[in-house]
This record gives sequence, C-alpha cells and structure tokens, in this order.
Amino acid sequence: MSEEIPWEKLFAAAAEVRQRAHVPYSRFPVGAAVLYPDGSVVTGCNVENATYGLTVCAERTALATGVAQGRGRPVAVAIVVDTPTPCPPCGICRQVMAEFASPELPVRSRNLKGDEARYSLGELLPYAFTRDFL
Ligand code: THU
Repeated sequence: MSEEIPWEKLFAAAAEVRQRAHVPYSRFPVGAAVLYPDGSVVTGCNVENATYGLTVCAERTALATGVAQGRGRPVAVAIVVDTPTPCPPCGICRQVMAEFASPELPVRSRNLKGDEARYSLGELLPYAFTRDFL
C-alpha cells in the first residue's frame, strides 16, 4: 500500500501550503498534506495567534479540513519543515491522527534539503487512547 502513495505529490503540496503559514511569532512555518481514499489531497499550515497557546499545527489544520470536506480516513501524511533534520509531528497532532487513522498510517517528514524521516502512527504514538476505551 505504502508504495502506491504519491509521496512526491504530497510533499509538493505540503511545501506549497507551508508558504502560507501564519507564523509571526515562531517564524517556523510548517506544511502538511493528507491523502484520502478517493485520492484527494488536503493541505494545512500552522496558524499562530497572539495568545500563543491558541496555535494550531499544520497537521491538525489539514486533518480538520479533511473532516470539513468529508474526505474520510487519512491514508498518508506528509510534513515539510525547514529544520536540519526532518521534524516529527507534535504529540497533540499524533493524538488527533489517532482519532481518524489506524496505527499503520504512514507519516513522512522532509526538510528543505530533501532529507526524509519515515514513521507509522503506531511508532509515533504507541498505546494511543482511542474511542475503543470509551
Ligand atoms: N508546529 C507544527 O505546525 N507542526 C508540528 O508538528 C510541530 C510544530 C508549529 C507550531 C508552531 O506554530 C511552530 O510550529 C513552532 O512550534
């Protein structure tokens, strides 16, 4: 399955949306692209706020848009950040991914040099708390 994922398309979309990040405080723009079962790609960038704490990460922006558009369960997530080594998603975003995807969800991150890190959601968030416990 993972080999059928159009990673280059996802990373291109993540890099493009990253340029629209609202990051006046951190100056740390992040772009994310999520692939859905119908082949559609939904993107998101981080959106900061003067209160700081209301910041929403790129990954969650993309996942929330996917919900709003009725896209279904995420198939893959690509992240682009300008860091020396590829940057993994934060803990809050991992939990939100676990709301909508299985532990097999492939997550990949690249920096602007093209270095890439590959994870599964299960590796990123073992023992996830999910609706199964409710
Ligand atoms: N950020 C993301 O958008 N995604 C991550 O996975 C890590 C952090 C954002 C939040 C904030 O706007 C900036 O990066 C610095 O933490």
